[in-house]
Amino acid sequence: MITAYKKHIVSALILVSSLFITGVASAQIITIPVETQHNALVLQTDADKNLKMVYFGTRLSNTDEYTQIQKMYKQSDDSGVLNDAYTPSGSANLVEPAITVIHADGNTSLNLVYVSQAITKIDDDVSLLTITLKDPAYDFEVKLCYKTFFKEDVTEQWSVIEHHEKGTVTLSKFASANLYLKGDGFWLKQYHGNWASEMQPEESKLMHGIKTIDTKLGTRADLYTSSAFMISMDKPATEDEGKVLYGAMEWSANFKEDFEVDPANNLRLIAGMNNAASEYHLKPGEEFTTPAFLYTYSDHGKGDASRKLQSWARKYKIVDGEGPRFTLLNNWESTYFDFNEDKLKELLKDTKNLGVDLFLLDDGWFGNKYPRNGDNAGLGDWQENKKKLPNGIGSLVKEATADGVKFGIWIEPEMVNPASDLYHKHPDWVIKQPNRPEKYFRNQLVLDLTNPKVQDYVFGIVDSLFIKNPALAYIKWDCNAVIYNAYSSYLKKDQSHLYIDYGRGLYNVMARMRAKYPKVPMMLCSGGGGRVDYGALQYFTEYWPSDNTEPLERVYIQWEYSYFFPAIASSNHVTNWGKEPIKYRVDVAMMGRLGFDIVVSKLSGQELDFCHQALKNYDNLKDIIWHGDQYRLQSPWDNDAASLMYVNSLRSQAVVFNYLVNKRYNSGTKVPIRLKGLDPQKKYQVKEINLYAGAKSSIGDNLVLTGDFLMKVGVNPDVNEGRTSVVLQVDEVK
Ligand code: DGJ
Repeated sequence: MITAYKKHIVSALILVSSLFITGVASAQIITIPVETQHNALVLQTDADKNLKMVYFGTRLSNTDEYTQIQKMYKQSDDSGVLNDAYTPSGSANLVEPAITVIHADGNTSLNLVYVSQAITKIDDDVSLLTITLKDPAYDFEVKLCYKTFFKEDVTEQWSVIEHHEKGTVTLSKFASANLYLKGDGFWLKQYHGNWASEMQPEESKLMHGIKTIDTKLGTRADLYTSSAFMISMDKPATEDEGKVLYGAMEWSANFKEDFEVDPANNLRLIAGMNNAASEYHLKPGEEFTTPAFLYTYSDHGKGDASRKLQSWARKYKIVDGEGPRFTLLNNWESTYFDFNEDKLKELLKDTKNLGVDLFLLDDGWFGNKYPRNGDNAGLGDWQENKKKLPNGIGSLVKEATADGVKFGIWIEPEMVNPASDLYHKHPDWVIKQPNRPEKYFRNQLVLDLTNPKVQDYVFGIVDSLFIKNPALAYIKWDCNAVIYNAYSSYLKKDQSHLYIDYGRGLYNVMARMRAKYPKVPMMLCSGGGGRVDYGALQYFTEYWPSDNTEPLERVYIQWEYSYFFPAIASSNHVTNWGKEPIKYRVDVAMMGRLGFDIVVSKLSGQELDFCHQALKNYDNLKDIIWHGDQYRLQSPWDNDAASLMYVNSLRSQAVVFNYLVNKRYNSGTKVPIRLKGLDPQKKYQVKEINLYAGAKSSIGDNLVLTGDFLMKVGVNPDVNEGRTSVVLQVDEVK
């Protein structure tokens, strides 16, 4: 028997050799399988060297047979098979293109034919395949890049566009990826939302015509819709069954995803930066690199696909995804802008008293001429407010250290209030139309990150906080405004570059920040989940899913985010939103990186005792929640109770969270809930934890069952009106 490791090497070799063999064996037809552990995307040239996508799905057992696929497609004008691997426009293709250009001589046609390919093995798991396509009539080329993560079944795809024409070429469209999926019907699960109602799912069958998901907000790209989606093929996939592709843009500015069912009833998928108001002028020799479009595929349902993405994100994308996180106390909802040094020092004591690692000072600590005492002033002036903090942040960091807690701070460095010194000093650093009234979002405007001087300024805000306070242990980076009146004084005649260069400028700053401070935990926030994507998350340890911390709402919001993002990246705070008891609030916040935003001194003795006990339990279980495999057991959308679990890699420990979401008469769990991911051979003790002091669990304290039983029959957590949330710890008994 070959081990998983050996198998992986063999498969990687197959990938390399099949490229070689097919390339040599047939001069005309080149077959390029892009394989991961379970899946394959197969590209093939036609007789005219056009590159087509001929297969996407589970790998074939006999990889030699990839060469046979093209023959199965009818090659004629009326076949309706529109499967270009990167559809150009203005020549023979009359459907939605991946790329549209105006050549230096004004011609608007483009053809792209296969020229070459190269593969770089980055390590045992990761490879980068680059395929070069060229226009036979113009010195214009596109490189299609496929970075595959073999074990995780994840691919990142992007394109690099370059030309050597005699003058500037205008790019009018520039997708990252253009996929072609075959199926007997396609079901799209997409997400809409707004402030406090992020990640609201909708699933519908795709009909002929184009369905577009896009954003034009400039910043806060995910405020109204996320770029993350799922496509089920043949029939809607369930948690454990069915074929499903997950996709998302790794881009924090405007994006666009088109889903087009072609005349042959297959799905063309084109994803990239949004080209709306964004024509890009490309000089000869300049490279235009698109952000990556990310995808994974499973033929075992949505749960399997999400576990692939979660483990990829932990290993390769988010900062320190396999490392630890701090528990914390945040002061936003307990003080808002109304605090001073004494009050904060009390909160530092509360942090210690509660027993969490870090105190996070939120908005309101800066601005002097225009003090930040509300959301209408001060953004841009990042000096401590002398009235509130006469001794500066430094004295708070010192005090925190003396109290044995760490200190973190909130910033919103991309933004400016018109009531600020910065706005008056550098009006040209602000995105706004010169000849129109200003329009504000939360009383603020966006700084022009296309301008390198502004990038330096924004980097300097973070840098000087760390230089002055080397013990600073955490940053919350917020972003509360969209881009109205898009105009940059810096870009001059290239105004249509604004959205793209904004995104690039933002990443320049974040990359600089991470080069200097590689591991400091940082939360990605945008007035809630207005910016949750893997483009930005590569610079952050965690994200803020929503300002809505009402725990019942959070069950749904966290549930949906979890399809795409791992629990370790989800900042979940216990607050006073809603009417649920402290236990329910803590139990819900525990399925992620746990924090609090409450007045600790207002907790009753029983509540504080509960929090202490729950924090101890969290300490025992956090490794499983952060780094284990997540299984969704029962959806809140169709059941009285939501249920999900995390299992460690040895399958020796698990934790099951159960939350009542329907409070109507007699609601609750009437039958056992089947667990998943355990070892059928092992015996486990199931024990209820997170109980109030003195409370007895109705599931008893000596429940020992096999994994086989727990997965076939299940366990009833006995969730009901009197037990609205139940946490079960599952430990192997030897
Ligand atoms: C919006 C964030 O989502 C909140 O958590 C808080 O940090 C406020 N901004 C502060 O203004």
